[in-house]
Amino acid sequence: MGDRRGRDKDLSRTEPVVPPIYQSTTFRLDDQSYEDIIATGGLNETWYSRFTNPTVAHAAEMVRRLDGGGDAFMTSSGMGAIATTLLTLLRTGDRIVVARELYGDTRDLFVRDLPALGIEIDFVNVADIDGWATALSTGPVKVAYAEAMSNPQLRLLDIPTVAELAHAAGATLVVDATFASPFCVQPLSLGADVVVHSATKFLSGHSDVIAGVVVADEDTITEVQKRVISFGTSLDPHAAFLVSRGLKTFGVRLARQCDTAGKIAGWLADHEGITSVSYPGLSDHPDHDVAERTWQKDARGAMVTCVLTGGNEAAGRMMRSLRVITEATSLGGVESLASAPHNSSQFSYSAEELRLAGIEAGMVRLSIGLEDPEALISDLDQALTSA
Ligand SMILES: Cc1ncc(COP(=O)(O)O)c(C=O)c1O
Repeated sequence: MGDRRGRDKDLSRTEPVVPPIYQSTTFRLDDQSYEDIIATGGLNETWYSRFTNPTVAHAAEMVRRLDGGGDAFMTSSGMGAIATTLLTLLRTGDRIVVARELYGDTRDLFVRDLPALGIEIDFVNVADIDGWATALSTGPVKVAYAEAMSNPQLRLLDIPTVAELAHAAGATLVVDATFASPFCVQPLSLGADVVVHSATKFLSGHSDVIAGVVVADEDTITEVQKRVISFGTSLDPHAAFLVSRGLKTFGVRLARQCDTAGKIAGWLADHEGITSVSYPGLSDHPDHDVAERTWQKDARGAMVTCVLTGGNEAAGRMMRSLRVITEATSLGGVESLASAPHNSSQFSYSAEELRLAGIEAGMVRLSIGLEDPEALISDLDQALTSA
């Protein structure tokens, strides 16, 4: 192969506008590398991409700035961020208080996997402040966990109030802000200790990459990084590049998506085929005041959840009739999607869990994209007529 020294350096004399993708698993070692490996276990040095990688670190830094945290670390998926964070913070014998309204796979972690490790779980409804107060003051508690805007009911966590209750109990508040996104709410500035996101959704925004991220203070992120390394939940550089490319348009995408979602929510609220609409920007939303108090001005999210009068069958017929909106799971991309939570994001819930979490028959969850708002409304109109 000959002498490789210097061969891969400075391939271009001029600086690229877009940082190159460091699609390399490993990096040439020198004295400085060994110093970091000996001193920190190689957490800071670029030497092996499961530990750290410049392209991955660049994406994390972009999210850190959006969320206003001390540090951030990318993971292989949103579930990777959630599981790695919880397994960093919790030990056998610990207790955690959790909001009942959860993404289905997160719920599996709380009802199946953490109890198997000897971790005690207590559920409360996300918007029930008395419930949080009681659960957090009953016995020792290590972590409080909730989604900032719940999937799919779109109920909101009153972050400052629950953060105060959690801290009084000596607990760390972890918030999944996937649905709300940092465009609408920045949990760390409201008192939360750790934010997790599925970067698969609004952060990357193009439905073309699975990724996650944890944002917190530097010490917490160092502990999370150690578990990412040992659990192998690190993100691939090419996936990280897609996240940072999507993040460049995050603000403009979300401004438009939230605006369109507000129009659609208002239109659905007046439709006779709809029993109820959940959208935090509507004045009759049960947590409207929480959004007014704690969310960014004029940013009420790009998710809209509605309940059809005809139940699950009507919801199924309506979604099959959509022509502009696609019936598909997931959310946060530039294309609008519709799904029925009971057989997609919450498919693993029992009938009783669906009832307790307020997931009604006929519920349809919409993720609003960048299409013309009028085209989306006329698509919903014809689909509701067909249903
Ligand atoms: C609120 C929420 N958190 C976490 C996740 C998991 O994200 P990922 O699919 O990137 O693992 C999802 C996925 O839909 C979600 O909706």
